[in-house]
Amino acid sequence: MSSMSKPKVYITRRIDEKYLQAYQDELEIRMWEKEGGPVPRETLFKEIADADALFAVLSDSVDEELLSKAPNLKVVANMAVGYDNIDVEACKKHQVVVTNTPDVLSETTADLGFSLIMATARRIVEADEWVKQDKWQSWAPFFFAGTDIYGKTLGIVGMGRIGEAVARRAAGFDMNIQYHNRSRKKDAEERLNAKYVSFDELLETSDFIVTVVPHTKETDKLFNQTAFKKMKSSAIFVNISRGKVVDEEALAEALKSGEIQAAGLDVFDEEPIRADHPLVGLKNTVCVPHIGSASVETRTKMAQLCLDNIQAVVSGKEAITPVS
Ligand code: DGY
Repeated sequence: MSSMSKPKVYITRRIDEKYLQAYQDELEIRMWEKEGGPVPRETLFKEIADADALFAVLSDSVDEELLSKAPNLKVVANMAVGYDNIDVEACKKHQVVVTNTPDVLSETTADLGFSLIMATARRIVEADEWVKQDKWQSWAPFFFAGTDIYGKTLGIVGMGRIGEAVARRAAGFDMNIQYHNRSRKKDAEERLNAKYVSFDELLETSDFIVTVVPHTKETDKLFNQTAFKKMKSSAIFVNISRGKVVDEEALAEALKSGEIQAAGLDVFDEEPIRADHPLVGLKNTVCVPHIGSASVETRTKMAQLCLDNIQAVVSGKEAITPVS
């Protein structure tokens, strides 16, 4: 294929050349080279003007305005399993295929969910700071005493692929597993020894609550003041899905007033958050910068899946992982 006729791909973040090499014979790839921030919207509009494919990340808003500036666009490959940054209906209208990266990130994201369970329950971050700030003077009977994980009840909200991967880890910790999902998943119940409960029962009886639901109209601020009030005062809340499923003000209040014990958070309503965010200043939170799928192995698979999807669509084949 001559370089003149290669389909044009625009990538909105810098990706190391080594991940692109396998595709460069077939695709003309350009990208936003600057580290440290997203491509400015105006630049994206210029770059998209002749692009056949967009490789996007979750902080890029793919909406009618952008689509109207991309007459040749055939596919948007989102480097995430969630795609609430994309107006899928507008893409349909413009006959643009949307793809995401399911499966390849489930285990890694569940690892992070479990890391947050462990970090909050055993106060790992606080204890690390204590040592590094040279405050450690002696051992004491209840010094940094946290909460046991084994034998406790884990409530998973959203029993999809990531939810199941969290449940498998919990089984290894001898946890009792219960879940709530839009629809009951009897096969998962048997495989994972998980009990289906109503949302309210899950809130009231779980020691750890992990949310893995996508952000939709139905899940917007699902975890609100009413939900936090129903939780045990010893409950630990972990969010590895989307920040917008939580009313952050209500969560901060629940953590301050002792309505719940602690929270481990990978995602926030507006990202990036700053150090003066109400949830960051609290002793009983562990906050990380949306790194659920951030292992080199998984990010490599996600990038490859995006490029494979792009290559498929621009060469007239079915997308591998279309969102709908
Ligand atoms: C996703 O894939 O939706 C994650 O949030 C990205 O890490």
